[in-house]
Amino acid sequence: MPGCSRAQLHYADGMCGIVGYTGRQRAVDVVVDGLKRLEYRGYDSAGVAIVADGKLDAQKRAGKLTNLTEALKAQATSADGAVFEAGTTGIGHTRWATHGAPNDLNAHPHLSEDGSIALIHNGIIENFAQLRGALERDGVFFASETDTETAAHLLAREYANAPEGQDRLSEAMRRVCRQLEGAFTLLAVHRDEPQTVVGARRNSPLVVGRGEGENFLASDVAAFIAHTREAVELGQDQVVRISPTDIVVTNFDGTPAQTREFHIDWDASAAEKDGYDYFMLKEIAEQPRAIADTLRGRLTGTGEVVLDDVHLTPAQLREIDKVFVIACGTAYHSGLVAKYAIEHWTRIPVEVELASEFRYRDPVLGPKTLCIAVSQSGETMDTIMALRHAKEQNAPVLAICNTIGSTIPRESDAVLYTRAGPEVAVASTKAFLTQIVAAYLVGLYLAQVRGVKFGDEVSAVVRELEEIPAAVQQVIEVSEPVREIAQRLKDDKQILFLGRHVGYPVALEGALKLKELAYMHAEGFAAGELKHGPISLIEEGSPVVVTVPSPKGRSVLHDKMVSNIQEVRARGAKMIIIAEEGDDVVEEYADELIRVPHVPTLLAPLVTTVPLQVLACEIASARGHDVDQPRNLAKSVTVE
Ligand code: AGP
Repeated sequence: MPGCSRAQLHYADGMCGIVGYTGRQRAVDVVVDGLKRLEYRGYDSAGVAIVADGKLDAQKRAGKLTNLTEALKAQATSADGAVFEAGTTGIGHTRWATHGAPNDLNAHPHLSEDGSIALIHNGIIENFAQLRGALERDGVFFASETDTETAAHLLAREYANAPEGQDRLSEAMRRVCRQLEGAFTLLAVHRDEPQTVVGARRNSPLVVGRGEGENFLASDVAAFIAHTREAVELGQDQVVRISPTDIVVTNFDGTPAQTREFHIDWDASAAEKDGYDYFMLKEIAEQPRAIADTLRGRLTGTGEVVLDDVHLTPAQLREIDKVFVIACGTAYHSGLVAKYAIEHWTRIPVEVELASEFRYRDPVLGPKTLCIAVSQSGETMDTIMALRHAKEQNAPVLAICNTIGSTIPRESDAVLYTRAGPEVAVASTKAFLTQIVAAYLVGLYLAQVRGVKFGDEVSAVVRELEEIPAAVQQVIEVSEPVREIAQRLKDDKQILFLGRHVGYPVALEGALKLKELAYMHAEGFAAGELKHGPISLIEEGSPVVVTVPSPKGRSVLHDKMVSNIQEVRARGAKMIIIAEEGDDVVEEYADELIRVPHVPTLLAPLVTTVPLQVLACEIASARGHDVDQPRNLAKSVTVE
């Protein structure tokens, strides 16, 4: 195979930002601004391609988006800046590489040999090697190592063979998509079609923004909500052609496609920082509203739970004899918390599974097993593949998701959307708390329709949930002591987290936040496990963070936690204790004490998690890290 050796050939990219535009504005401005709002999705390289007056021009740079904008500024004054100056149609891409060096060559857009077509891509084209081989045998020269370039050359070939007319680029795209295997979102422009952008999607995000005399394509709505809040959801295996006045969606076979229009109620500012240093801090502060919004409209005046998005009938839900919660990372931790409540309220056994492990262990599933797929982005490939496995076993799937129109809710039988608004910081915070709240609503709904809880019992919990936003606000307002503690811990090598009962998943989540933000070793333990090994990690001055169960709840848990604190303290640990107001038993053991308001046992994670989020954010900031875009991570892991 001429060019790169097979060993050098790489799949393209996972979680990228994609923007397309055609209309009356200068395309480069709209596209670059859109990429800025999507930069969290991936930032190893960035590029744009613009079409004007029968010409196509592209610029791309490795590194962060600022490298590209500097290059664009430099060329704006030169002759070849004319296309960028005049062009009102274009596409743009920020890349998070999963394979292949993040360099200029591998950056998108990728061009056809004659420079007539530019193409960008998110996902993985699984059969690109053989497609590339055939093209190379036909003499096509490849400039990069990526699979994306294969699609660019294929598109040029199909364009040459497609019938002339306004649908030519779309028809060429459909022909290409029918040859591709894998997961992909593709956008393309052609220099001879100055007012057309064509997109295609399979297993990867793409949404249309409908404007006045202009239209948009993007990997998520944050890219264009400053221009329009009217959007069109695309389905699987569809091609979309936008012009300034038209949006035409077809299936890969060319037949007209069904689409769903929806209104985006996020304000443009919602995706901005609003004066906070980091999106993460802004999103921590948004948690009270996010919880209130997630509850809104789902509780009747008499305290009954109504889940209008959940289109599983009460009869179906009464048949359920097992629940699986399937998720990754922080979403998985929300499932671990929810397990305690759902089992307690419904008496249905609940298993919480890592999505990446789920289908490989051949789980026992069937029509009576409710699978709850939890995902902020709705595009996590591990979770998508796990829910597909569940559906193959005829198990009903309910999605808990924060992103309207994303793949996971679209492929589920029912969805309960969290209403956290755009979560831009890679480290998940408000999504986590709203995932817990949504899972609690599902648990209460199950208990209600199955009659294992009377209405007044459900409404009692509902009233407790309605108090939570104020409790969370109270914790946020007293974050200053947590910031001071962070300054004292920032140089430690590791921090251990202990919890019991619902506090155990909180310990796991606190550890994950610290790992992904401060790049510090951290581990969460069930406190009762300490004496079975981990306690050997404790030495003089080891920082240990403990969330103490309420003494007013199951006081046995409180008492056992106090003895665990004594065990580690006796071995020299530095105790950072999170305990509720009024619990004075713990004071003598605390080197640092963080107070939270009393809430019922099962709701405690909604308040005790918040100091851990702030702690991780502040330690990362003290270490000079990029809090919103930690190294090696992307916001949505859209590859397995
Ligand atoms: C959490 O802070 C991380 N960003 C990560 O663990 C995330 O929760 C996980 O990748 C799942 O993402 P999802 O909710 O979008 O599916």
